[in-house]
Amino acid sequence: MKKIAAMGLAGALAMASTVAVAVKPEDAIDYRQGVFQAIKWHFGTMGAMVKGKMDYDADDFTRRAEIVSQLSHLPWEGFVEGSYSGDTDALPAIADNWDKFEGGSNMLMEKTAALATAAKTGDMDQIRPAFGEVGKTCKGCHDNFKD
Ligand code: HEC
Repeated sequence: MKKIAAMGLAGALAMASTVAVAVKPEDAIDYRQGVFQAIKWHFGTMGAMVKGKMDYDADDFTRRAEIVSQLSHLPWEGFVEGSYSGDTDALPAIADNWDKFEGGSNMLMEKTAALATAAKTGDMDQIRPAFGEVGKTCKGCHDNFKD
């Protein structure tokens, strides 16, 4: 049983890498930019609520925080070989410093999950710092890896 499960995993990994190679760089760029646009859409509205430019609606804020947390898992598979030139702001430094980039992506998944948890409290004193942590993570990665 264990052996079969291990082979299943190896097969799945082999398939995943085949898919990554088959992807066209321009499609991968569109994909990841689209996900970032969706993140911005929700994060922007959340920011307006945190800054008091828009009435705070706890349910709506939580819904958006959960969406952003889910979306934070998505862009990374769009960073494929050959996708650091053309219609993109992604710097080739990503491929050269993959571990650091991946650290930033993991950080985003972690901090957005923490924000979704904070959102459920409905307590702005917990939400505000969690929101700030996510914002710092966006900026930290953009400063290093986005033109
Ligand atoms: C680990 C790195 C990383 C993190 C974290 C990150 N981004 Fe980005 N982001 C990028 C890169 C790289 C690009 C450039 C993508 C491209 O042009 O191909 C980008 C592009 C974007 C774009 C422009 C998309 C377009 O249409 O060209 C927006 C908007 C954006 N990010 C928003 C955010 C927000 C908001 C956060 C935080 C909630 C965030 N990003 C977190 C790396 C990151």
